[in-house]
Amino acid sequence: MSASVLTAVAWPYANGPRHIGHVSGFGVPSDVFSRYQRMAGNQVLMVSGTDEHGTPISVQAEKEGLTTRQLADKYNRVIAEDLQGLGLSYDLFTRTTTGNHYEVVQQIFLALHRNGYVVPKTTTGAISPSTGRTLPDRYIEGTCPICGYDGARGDQCDNCGNQLDPADLINPVSRINGETPEFVETEHLFLDLPAFTESLGKWLSTRTGWRPNVLKFAQNLVEDMRPRAISRDLDWGVPIPLDGWRDQPMKRFYVWFDAVIGYLSASVEWARRTGDADAWKQWWTDPSAKAYYFMGKDNITFHAQIWPTLLMGHNGQGDKGGSVGPFGELNLPDEIVSSEFLTMSGSKFSTSRGTVIYVRDFLREFGPDTLRYFISVAGPENQDTDFTWDEFVRRTNFELANEWGNLVNRSISMAAKNNGAVPAPTAPQAADEELKALSRNAFETVGGHLERSRFKAAAQEAMRVVSAANKYLSDQEPWKLREDPDRRDAVLHTALQVVSDANTLLTPFLPHSAQKVHELLGGTGVWSAQPEIREVPDLDDASVEYPVLMGEYAAEQAAWRSTDIEVGRPLSKPTPLFAKLDPKLAETGPEWAPIES
Ligand code: MF3
Ligand code: ZN
Repeated sequence: MSASVLTAVAWPYANGPRHIGHVSGFGVPSDVFSRYQRMAGNQVLMVSGTDEHGTPISVQAEKEGLTTRQLADKYNRVIAEDLQGLGLSYDLFTRTTTGNHYEVVQQIFLALHRNGYVVPKTTTGAISPSTGRTLPDRYIEGTCPICGYDGARGDQCDNCGNQLDPADLINPVSRINGETPEFVETEHLFLDLPAFTESLGKWLSTRTGWRPNVLKFAQNLVEDMRPRAISRDLDWGVPIPLDGWRDQPMKRFYVWFDAVIGYLSASVEWARRTGDADAWKQWWTDPSAKAYYFMGKDNITFHAQIWPTLLMGHNGQGDKGGSVGPFGELNLPDEIVSSEFLTMSGSKFSTSRGTVIYVRDFLREFGPDTLRYFISVAGPENQDTDFTWDEFVRRTNFELANEWGNLVNRSISMAAKNNGAVPAPTAPQAADEELKALSRNAFETVGGHLERSRFKAAAQEAMRVVSAANKYLSDQEPWKLREDPDRRDAVLHTALQVVSDANTLLTPFLPHSAQKVHELLGGTGVWSAQPEIREVPDLDDASVEYPVLMGEYAAEQAAWRSTDIEVGRPLSKPTPLFAKLDPKLAETGPEWAPIES
């Protein structure tokens, strides 16, 4: 039965190009998952966009001498290009500065407010004594009051993951100029988290299938929930639609409040763009739909705690009850799939610390599928993982080029040379049947792993079929069967059938090369569809245009099953699927990201 699957992918800040650490957290895993779900016959809606408000944007804009809007425009485009280059198959990749997003955020807020889950409070905010200006939370650094880590930021401690207020930090200093901030009284709106203690706790206790670390983390948060500010003293963000707040130039929603609502607003925008304004409901208000959220581990709080409470509050399902908001009873997350960090030589990938490998450099030199494969099979799925050029070279040369590329190449070359077409299977022997059974059965095993976002295991199982097929060819030695063309045909037919199966199994990981193998096997049309960048007008303000990623994924042929190859399909001599990398790369790295010795 076909299910509705929402793939909700974390929204990258529009404050710089993406590096490979970013896309190993939210990007590649969510795409492998979505491609598999579509191939399995499910109806996928995959949405995200650039996260364009808040201090990460205003601080970078200041650094680059641009307005916040200019900066957001610049990196929205750069990031859309990075993600398109990787082949991430978003149904809609948009941005948070659209008229549609503002409207949806304000509607959700008003529903929460009506149901009594928003409380105003006087609090302390930091200002810079030298300039008198508000100091963004993220740019105050100090010692974490919870774990003692001395690089904690005003909004969050990256060491223990706890949410902080700048005033909580021990020895706070401004990261901009090192001065000690001054704290002054300021009025803010707070999400009444304590009013979700029971409802959130109860909901979490019924979660099955979450990665245990995520569930535990979320359950710990419920133990001590305090009201959490959802507004900031900032001029860059979604305005607050309440009397007394609406017109204040320095009061905006906190970036995280508006960003998580992006999952819903992007779904609504997608529906409006496809001509059926209610189409989003299939993924949001039908209780049988499933929602999967993909992110790096520093985002867990917002997806396992804040976002569910916003949804409950809108639905009137918090501890204080209330009535259902304007979007109807919205579905809560079914799974939170979070990745650990990708590091390089031990330091967290981070632009601020200088060790960065940008996606676009990577794509230019190595193409998308080698990176997708590396992240899937050797990425930070369950633990922080060090990226090394050495391992990248090994995975690419031994697994992609020698194993997979070589299997494709020799199977198709031999058939092209001897038959010029897919040969007929004559009198199959036990070894042929065994190999075909192995690849047929792999659909269930690999699919089972992909359903649970176990990407490493899935990729390894798919590659097991490739290895078995290579071994089969070495054992059967079709190149020595000149005197027995019938047997040779049977062997080559088997090999080509398994190439076709393995190609299907690898399609979620390697969609670009999968298209190529489809064509090498004589197939035509779109096997695996790719996202396109489209320039579109803002739906609520036609004077503004922006790029989005969308795609015609429903038209792709890839399906999660073994499909019998067609005897007689013409075959010609293939070109290599993967170029082998110079082993020296393992020692030196590329020029644009050299290994420091
Ligand atoms: N921009 C945030 C980050 O890069 C992620 C936002 S995810 C969403 O950490 F929830 F806001 F969508
Ligand atoms: Zn800490």
